[in-house]
Amino acid sequence: MAAIKETVSNLISKISGSAEEAPREPSAEEFQQLRNKYTEAGQGQVFAFVDELQTADKSRLFHQLSTFDVARINELADRALNPPKSEQTAVTVEPLPDVATASIIDSDPADVKTWYEAGLKQVAENNVAVVLMAGGQGTRLGSSAPKGCFDIGLLSEKPLFQLQAERIAKLQELANKAHGVQSATIPWYVMTSGPTRKPTEEFFAKNKYFGLSKDNIFIFEQGVLPCISNDGKIIMESKSKVAVAPDGNGGIYQAIVTSGVREDMRKRGIKHIHAYCVDNCLVKVADPVFIGFSASKNVDIATKVVRKRDAAESVGLIVQKNGKPDVVEYSEIDKETAEAKDPKQPDVLKFRAANIVNHYYSFQFFESIENWMHKLPHHVARKKIPFINPENGEAVKPDTPNGIKLEQFVFDVFPMTPLDKFACIEVRREEEFSPLKNARGTGQDDPDTSRDDIMKQGQRWVEAAGGIVITEDDKFGVEVSPLISYGGENLEFLKGRQIKAPALLEKEE
Ligand code: UD1
Repeated sequence: MAAIKETVSNLISKISGSAEEAPREPSAEEFQQLRNKYTEAGQGQVFAFVDELQTADKSRLFHQLSTFDVARINELADRALNPPKSEQTAVTVEPLPDVATASIIDSDPADVKTWYEAGLKQVAENNVAVVLMAGGQGTRLGSSAPKGCFDIGLLSEKPLFQLQAERIAKLQELANKAHGVQSATIPWYVMTSGPTRKPTEEFFAKNKYFGLSKDNIFIFEQGVLPCISNDGKIIMESKSKVAVAPDGNGGIYQAIVTSGVREDMRKRGIKHIHAYCVDNCLVKVADPVFIGFSASKNVDIATKVVRKRDAAESVGLIVQKNGKPDVVEYSEIDKETAEAKDPKQPDVLKFRAANIVNHYYSFQFFESIENWMHKLPHHVARKKIPFINPENGEAVKPDTPNGIKLEQFVFDVFPMTPLDKFACIEVRREEEFSPLKNARGTGQDDPDTSRDDIMKQGQRWVEAAGGIVITEDDKFGVEVSPLISYGGENLEFLKGRQIKAPALLEKEE
């Protein structure tokens, strides 16, 4: 294991060009070659202040610039700033075909049980891994720490990372018990970015990996791309540093390959992967139902969706677009389409599969990443990017967007997947999706809604098991530790017991 980890961390520092280690000084010839490359590509401004730099800073600049393929950056910038006029081919948007979909809400409970048992068996056989996307900077939340460190105000004060870790621990325990083994292991691969890596590593170490084995947790880093000015130039953050931004959650595919994560999965014999976003406090990490469902369909990719609340909700939808699985943004469909009813169930919307970025992948599919990775499009985010004026070296903090960040989206791989290798399962929103996006007080997708959704879920579980929750005034909710119950199971011991809300059910030491 130690050997694998060493390889992984070497590769990662090679990619990110860690600023802390003393940089090797390039030879004059190496430096000149790189300078020529950038100058010929029309990006010579990155060397505007090179003659003023100390040797160490000059070396750092050299190493940072060496990690980019400037011709490719120009290509991406050009396409982003001057998008090709789309040929007006007719677009047909339809819900996914019935054969590719299922719903926890409408399914026969016997089917759900079969999927659960099959998925748990996969966990017991050590075939399941999870990948967490935690490279986002969470600017809307207004906290500088990684989102996973955020305490949403639960009675236990557990941060999001801990809830996820405890669900992994519990699932391993359930799989061990169900299959008479003791070694069920779900490796956890945590994707971070430049800004979130170090604080994430420190948080995990400080919290002793939340009781999980350190050997089964891999913190890796996604790539970055230079920020580009509105006229296509690479922006400098300082005289010796290019302004960069994480390459979006679609950077997961490249990072899985270059960081050694895929290699580690291969060595462990992983067959099924669950990938999810850090901000969903209700996420069922490595959900056996999802694994069992996806494995039974023998698909490359599957995705969970929740039912769109109403026709006006602003969420992306999972659909088939020109016969391929895809995501359409709410802004891309007209009112009539958004309001259309399902002919088979006239009380529900025809297009109701809301995207929650919660995916299954077969390991086999990960083996093909190199074949399509370069085809993932880059999306443009217009931002205010602080920069050094190449004319006079002054630091500028712009008031209006002066450039773009380029991002890939994790679901842009869908249209490259044949329909018969893609599946979608509808899950209950109140059981599985409550994202943390906004600062406290917003009233929507904020820390309070996250906490309330966990407390309500716990109360439902306790009541379903026959417990009596006493709610006085406007107090409600039970926080059930994931170490006690993963998804509402094994709470029969509460039958007939009275619990005064709000309450915390924690596992005794
Ligand atoms: C995302 C989805 C949106 C969906 C919503 C549901 C994308 C592009 N959009 O929107 O369709 O309805 O979630 O909650 O996914 N991340 C990285 N690296 C990055 C950027 C993001 O790992 O460079 C991670 C974040 O840490 C987070 C997840 O990706 O776990 C989603 O990112 P976020 O920026 O919150 O996406 P949204 O715009 O909210």
